[in-house]
Amino acid sequence: MPGASAPLKTAEGAAYARILSVGGYRPARVVTNEEICERIDSSDEWIRERSGIVSRRFAAPEESVVDMAVAASGKAIAQAGIAPEQIGAVLLATVTHPLQTPSAAADVAYRLGATSAGAFDISAACAGFCYGVATANDLVRGGTAEYVLVIGVEKLSDFTDSYDRSSAFIFGDGAGAVVIGPSEEPAIGPTIWGSDGSQYDAITQRASWIDVRDHNVDFPHLTMKGQKVFRWAVWQMAPVAERALEAAGVDAADLGAFIPHQANMRIIDAMIKTMKLPAHVPVARDIAETGNTSAASIPLAMERMLESGEVRSGGTALLIGFGAGLVYASQVVVLP
Ligand SMILES: CC(C)(COP(=O)(O)OP(=O)(O)OC[C@H]1O[C@@H](n2cnc3c(N)ncnc32)[C@H](O)[C@@H]1OP(=O)(O)O)[C@@H](O)C(=O)NCCC(=O)NCCS
Repeated sequence: MPGASAPLKTAEGAAYARILSVGGYRPARVVTNEEICERIDSSDEWIRERSGIVSRRFAAPEESVVDMAVAASGKAIAQAGIAPEQIGAVLLATVTHPLQTPSAAADVAYRLGATSAGAFDISAACAGFCYGVATANDLVRGGTAEYVLVIGVEKLSDFTDSYDRSSAFIFGDGAGAVVIGPSEEPAIGPTIWGSDGSQYDAITQRASWIDVRDHNVDFPHLTMKGQKVFRWAVWQMAPVAERALEAAGVDAADLGAFIPHQANMRIIDAMIKTMKLPAHVPVARDIAETGNTSAASIPLAMERMLESGEVRSGGTALLIGFGAGLVYASQVVVLP
């Protein structure tokens, strides 16, 4: 009969997926609180006390989001022991790629020689890396890609108003990347995620590109309602992390690490308290010397904890990202 056909063939993926490797890139220039205070009425003491940040890194003027992503990814790919051509997808989480189109991911894939990879950017701000892990897990298990490169990268120094005392001290630049591939054992737990667009204005660009074109407004820097974000993160995010633990069937006491988005040290401390996280679980505190690098913060913190020997490869880590949207995502993973 015309139109009749055999059932469609569908892709068959791996039973499970895992993070095979992690690589980070930290720009060379260390920016102290004193330097930030040259442009805002604040102090090193206030910034340390309110955010836990001692210093952050800023990329060089000519250093782009793509350059930093390529550097971090090169390390992750080498460590995974795969060839770039084996990568089936490049997912790049960022809010600071300065071109509306094309994506940073396509350029990164090209520069890495990932010639068989589909590539796209993820716009989920500080939750972007966890959104990428969730998507990569499903791509590998669904059979769309064997290996997926997930990158979190930001050059926030380009989009932060250095004269805005409510946000200038928070943000930093950097990149972190992981390779996710097939696994015989479960190694990425279910993702608990969500969004709350009623708080769209909590962290946002000051104006749209149309306003810039038609109304001659200034460069649309990022702006943040600090207290609003702080309260939301402290009260709403601990239950999300707890749901991710429960979904993975992991007891908090058995965690090898807690690696939350590095938003503010006080948010991290408040979450630990609310979750009653046992004191023996190592907690990522990379924010002190890295600042808040949005999508890059979790993989950068993961790399640092592994390199310092604070956590061990093969242990479980609870990840949670949250930020502009507002959006959030959390999952338990086995560390590479
Ligand atoms: C930004 C943040 C550190 C501000 O800390 P805070 O304790 O909420 O500070 P507040 O805005 O309540 O301001 C407290 C006081 O400090 C002052 N202040 C604000 N910024 C200051 C600065 N940079 N230096 C010195 N004083 C400052 C305020 O004027 C206020 O003074 P007042 O009490 O005399 O009115 C905090 O709100 C925060 O971290 N929010 C979340 C940010 C975040 O995580 N963003 C990324 C999301 S992914």
